[in-house]
Amino acid sequence: MFLCILFFCSLTVTGARTAKADPGSLASTYQPQLKIGVAVGESLWSDSERATRILCEREYNSSTPENFLKWDAVQPEPGKFNWAAPDRWVQWGEQHQLQLVGHVLVWHQQTPDWVFRDDSAAPRGRDSLHALLRNHIATVVGRYRGRIDIWDVVNEAIEDDGSRRDSPWLQILGDNYVADAFQLAHQADPTARLLYNDYNVWMPEKRAGIIRLLQEVRSSGAPVHGIGMQGHWGLHYPTVEELQSTLKSFSELNFEIHITELDITVLPDPSSIPTADIASHFDYNETMDPYQEGLPPELSDQLATRYEQLFKVFLEFPEVVRVTFWGATDKLSWRNDFPISGRTDHPLLFDRAGQPKKAYKALLRLRQ
Ligand code: G3I
Repeated sequence: MFLCILFFCSLTVTGARTAKADPGSLASTYQPQLKIGVAVGESLWSDSERATRILCEREYNSSTPENFLKWDAVQPEPGKFNWAAPDRWVQWGEQHQLQLVGHVLVWHQQTPDWVFRDDSAAPRGRDSLHALLRNHIATVVGRYRGRIDIWDVVNEAIEDDGSRRDSPWLQILGDNYVADAFQLAHQADPTARLLYNDYNVWMPEKRAGIIRLLQEVRSSGAPVHGIGMQGHWGLHYPTVEELQSTLKSFSELNFEIHITELDITVLPDPSSIPTADIASHFDYNETMDPYQEGLPPELSDQLATRYEQLFKVFLEFPEVVRVTFWGATDKLSWRNDFPISGRTDHPLLFDRAGQPKKAYKALLRLRQ
């Protein structure tokens, strides 16, 4: 009898992984059609961000680590793994019945130099790099087998013109590295949903290049379940029509569609082409930072209208199964430092003090 009570208590304490039940939250408003997620950093567990953590627990039913599961964070040196932050995030996510999204196994950014160069600083050969890739994926995905529901397996392998990004992964392993990564992730956790993740997917040439890649991966027999469209967009790009035709392309090919990193910058873009490639960076200047004192009411209205417009399109496609915001509050957004450091952006649903903005209220109203 005692053991039965103990078992029951353990279930209620850890909580069965069920949909968010907080009435009036983003998660409860959009379930079951859409999971609503949030990217989180290690600061979420600091005393200073306690209110933000409570906000995340109330509003979202999915979560993605912004940085602490990237290769340079989780395996900074050969065989040395940093599990503290990912372990705490997984336990927190399970405690609050969140869908967990692992980000990211293979990327040309935030990958330590030792991965591509051996002890003599010479470029690694194919077998040496492939062994490191196999070990990294088996160790990281294997550790959270059955606990992390989705993985961003490969990130940003295609250029805006649709060509393959000429990264060390491609140079050393050849064209098949993407399919290999998906195969290895599937072997490490056959229950996980596996995504290819990229930005500017709405650009026709890039979209065509991604579809070519994913069809190659599929025809190799490796499982790729869905496309992760990052969603680092602006008030006026992509247009509704561009977004609709992009979602249509992937829904017709039976891909799950995940909006993986949604934020809407309201700041001037210093580059002629919008991008989320962190390699492009610009120097600070005042004219590019017009809203340091706060978001003017008319722009707050524009942002609310833009988020409403995007969600109406997302809801048109049953293949769109998740929308993750790339940060909980404006203060935590990477947009304050990209593509120009030290700016004051207002891209998310909660302001720098963690208060709900008009955009948040518009999204709740959309489903009433
Ligand atoms: O952890 C170090 C810290 O020790 C050091 O003191 C500090 C100053 O140099 O840097 C810290 O690392 C930073 C890291 O974020 C963690 O805060 C890196 O410099 C910084 O480049 C990194 O930026 C992240 C960026 O990816 C590159 O990894 C952003 O926060 C993150 O929002 C952004 O997210 C990416 C997605 O992973 C992929 N899609 C595009 C998206 C935006 O670039």
